[in-house]
This record gives sequence, structure tokens and C-alpha cells, in this order.
Amino acid sequence: MPDKVFIFDTTLRDGEQTPGASLNIDEKLQIARHLELLNVDIIEAGFPRASKGDFAAVKAVAREIRGCQIAGLARANFDDINEAWEALKDATAPRIHTFISTSDIHLQYQLRKSREEVLEQAVAAVKHAARYTGNVEFSAMDAGRSDLDYVCKVFTAVIDAGATTVNFPDTVGYTIPHEFGAKIKYLVEHIPNIHKAVISVHCHNDLGLAVANTLAAIVNGARQAEVTINGLGERAGNASLEEVVMALATRQDLFHYDTDIVTQYIYPTSRLVSKLTGVVVQPNKAIVGANAFAHESGIHQDGVLKEASTYEIMTPAAVGIKKSLLPLGKLSGRHAFQKKLQEMGFYITDDELNRVFTRFKDLADKKKTVFDEDLVSLVETEVIYKSVPEHFRLEELVVLTGTMVKPNATVKMRLGREEKTTSSFGDGPIDATYKAITHLAQSKCKLLKFSVSSITGGTEALGEVAVRLEDEGHIVTGQGVDPDVVTASARAYINGLNRLHFLKQGGPKGKKPEEMEG
Ligand code: KIV
Ligand code: ZN
Repeated sequence: MPDKVFIFDTTLRDGEQTPGASLNIDEKLQIARHLELLNVDIIEAGFPRASKGDFAAVKAVAREIRGCQIAGLARANFDDINEAWEALKDATAPRIHTFISTSDIHLQYQLRKSREEVLEQAVAAVKHAARYTGNVEFSAMDAGRSDLDYVCKVFTAVIDAGATTVNFPDTVGYTIPHEFGAKIKYLVEHIPNIHKAVISVHCHNDLGLAVANTLAAIVNGARQAEVTINGLGERAGNASLEEVVMALATRQDLFHYDTDIVTQYIYPTSRLVSKLTGVVVQPNKAIVGANAFAHESGIHQDGVLKEASTYEIMTPAAVGIKKSLLPLGKLSGRHAFQKKLQEMGFYITDDELNRVFTRFKDLADKKKTVFDEDLVSLVETEVIYKSVPEHFRLEELVVLTGTMVKPNATVKMRLGREEKTTSSFGDGPIDATYKAITHLAQSKCKLLKFSVSSITGGTEALGEVAVRLEDEGHIVTGQGVDPDVVTASARAYINGLNRLHFLKQGGPKGKKPEEMEG
């Protein structure tokens, strides 16, 4: 039987350290639910001591998600570990993940401690954590640049102290696959009690080698891979879950290892994470990028039409990209529309269906072909993402722009029961539109981030806009989609304003800036 590789997902912890990608509790819970559907073994839900928001999010995930182990990060000190336990204790299978650096460079410049002091601190931390739970992970931060015999010494001692997983992170993404693989082999051969623990790896992508290093480690004895959805994470990110899992699944002739991942949830989870963090997936990203299964050259198209395996090493369906044979157009009825959504895995309420159907009809009027990707985006923005009441609603938008005029936008908006209209000039059509909306909503929010992408190819593609807004310490993401990119931008902004309004009215707390470190 193939060996099992445990998948430890750290999207909610290291992934959230992606610049600009902070998530509030509600958003973290949505992602955690998807990770549970994906069937990851361990969800690292956050770093409880880092902030009140992180503590609350870890607690909420630990309470709700019953099908995965839930980990919380803690530095190697008692206060961090106590706090982590407090957040984790309601989980069905809690894991305390404690860490300290082991490289001389970190010891000398950051910790200002000797190797002996760090060893003692690591052992004391693991012993303390083991008083709470038998499920303790120890990470030797910057292990990739640490003296290997010293790491062996630390791992031997922490396993004796109760660590059941020992993690070897390439914190700065410095190592090269054959070198990283050899390091893992060295651990296996030089740690006398290694059979009592699982070896884990946690690879960063600074040289674009995180996935390759993770695979090299698995071949050499690692049995836990720490990964994130879409490869999010500090700086250049972490090894991506979808790439590691699909490499193991696709090359079973080489890798005789199994994961328990339900791969059909990969794409929906990737989309959700991208939407909620506002971090767009590059089109040529392996597995989940918009072009991952697109065949442009005539020779390739010819081959794929005759037999998909000529140019596809896995099927889109295997990762949850569903192509349906039932195209929809402007004459399609509500029933066919509902059937199509169900075929794509969306079971929504009647109210939600009415809302999406109205948007679909508008879209079909403007656009010749409504692609599956368009429908996914509509459902996501109208149902999954529009989970807050609509205090502000865009009624009409007229924009005058071009090379000869100063861009001007007239916006008619509903604010609760009132309807208001105003016009504004701006540096561009989107700037003019945002000024008009800001004026009508009387908002003082700050636009932290604005990103636009197209869902399919061609000039009639749907534009998808994500914004990040901050007001009174709350940070939210807004999403909008429309064939007209200015309208999509307006929708995203208004969606964000609704989220802020909801939070200010006492909805689930958004994450405050002072809570964002960690
Ligand atoms: O990159 C790293 O070393 C980490 C540790 C906390 C595991 O994220
Ligand atoms: Zn990391």
C-alpha cells in the first residue's frame, strides 16, 4: 500500500501573511469549510498570540470544523503555548505547533542566544505543550540554512520531550531540490528516535522551488507537506497545495504516496481563496490558472479534440473544473439555468436563484456566449460573496470618457430606502465613478487595493474586480463582476461598502490593522 502523505494546510496562517491578504473571522471560516471538504489532514488556523482577531478566528475554526485536526502556531514560550491551547481546546483533534529558529544567522542576529539556550527553550516549550495534548508539532525555523547536526540534536531532544511531528522549514526558500532531499535523508539516518515522529517540510518559494523541494523531501522520507492554496504565503509564498497534491496524484508511477485530498474541490477552493483575499491567480498558474487547461495552438486543439490525453496530463474535472455540454443563452429558462448550476455543483436557495438568474439574463443580453466561468463568477459574487445585507445598491451608472473629455460619472444609488444621484469628474472613468459613489455613500473609507482581471479570453469577457477597503479600523474585500469593467469596479466598491456598513452595524468583527502582525 502506498505511504500516506499528510497535508497540512497553512493558508489561514502563513497564507494570510501574503501582503494585503488579511481575512476576517467570517472569511476564515468560509475557507476552513472548503478545506474540510478538500479533506486536508490539518488546518493551521492562525497564530493565536499574534492578535485578538487571530485568537478568535482559531477558536471559531476549532469549534466548527470537526473533520480535520486544527493547529495553532505558538513561539517557543509558555505564554504563546497557553494562548494557543486556549484557542484550540474545543477542536476534535487540536495540535499545538511551536517553533524557534535554529540557524546561526537567526541565533546571532535575531534571537541573540546560543545553540544550547535554543535547544533548552525548544525542549521546555514542547514539554509544556505536551501537557495539554499528545499532538505537538515542533518547527526548526530556518532549518534549510541551519547546521544539520544541530537540527538533528534539537529534533532528537524535542521528540524525547513529546513532539509527534518535526517540521523542517526552508523559511527563506534558499535550498535546491537535490540538496533539500539530501537533508531530509540525513535526518532519517541520524535521528535515533525519528520513528516516533512524522517528518514535515514547509518550503517557501523565493527561488520558485517550493513545490520541487517539497516533492524531493517526500521522496526522501518526509510524510507531511505544509502547503497553501494558490501558493499564498510570506513574500514569494509557500508550496502550493494544488501543485504538490496533483504532482503526487499524476505521477503515481514515480511517487508511491497517497494523500486523502478530494481533488475535485481544488478549483472551487482556489477561487474562494482568491476572492476572499483579493489575491488574483496568475492565468498561467499550474492547475488552477485560467490557462491551465486552455489550448491555443491549432495542433494542440486538434490533438485534444481527438483524445484529451494528447496534451492534458490530468483532466480538468479531476481538479473540479467542470465543463458542461449544455450551453446557455439569452433564451434559456429558469429551470434549465437551475439545472445547469446544479450540474456545476451549486445548490442555491430560490431567492438566490432569482438573483443570479436576473444577473444572468442581463449578461446574456450583452454577451453572445455565457461561459461556465462566467456563471461561476456570477454565483460567487451574487451568492457566496454577497453574504451581507445590501444597504447600498447601484441603480444606474452613466460614464462619459475618451481622449477628448475629462472623465465624468453619474451614479444613481439606493441607500437604505432613499435613492440619490450625483455626478463627479475624475482622472479616469473608474476614479470618477468611485468619487461619485464615495460622495453618495458619505464614506471616509480608504481604498487599500484595487485589482482587475478578466474571467475568460476575448473583448467580451467578464471583468472581475476586487477591492480592499479600510474604515474605522475595519478591513474588507469587495467583489464585482460585469462585462463592463467600470460597472464591475462600481459593483466591487459598493459590495465593499456594504461589508463595512455591516461591520459598523455590529456584524462579525473585521480584522483591525493593529491585529494584522504575526
Ligand atoms: O517559514 C517558516 O519557517 C514558518 C514557521 C513558523 C513554520 O512559517
Ligand atoms: Zn513559513
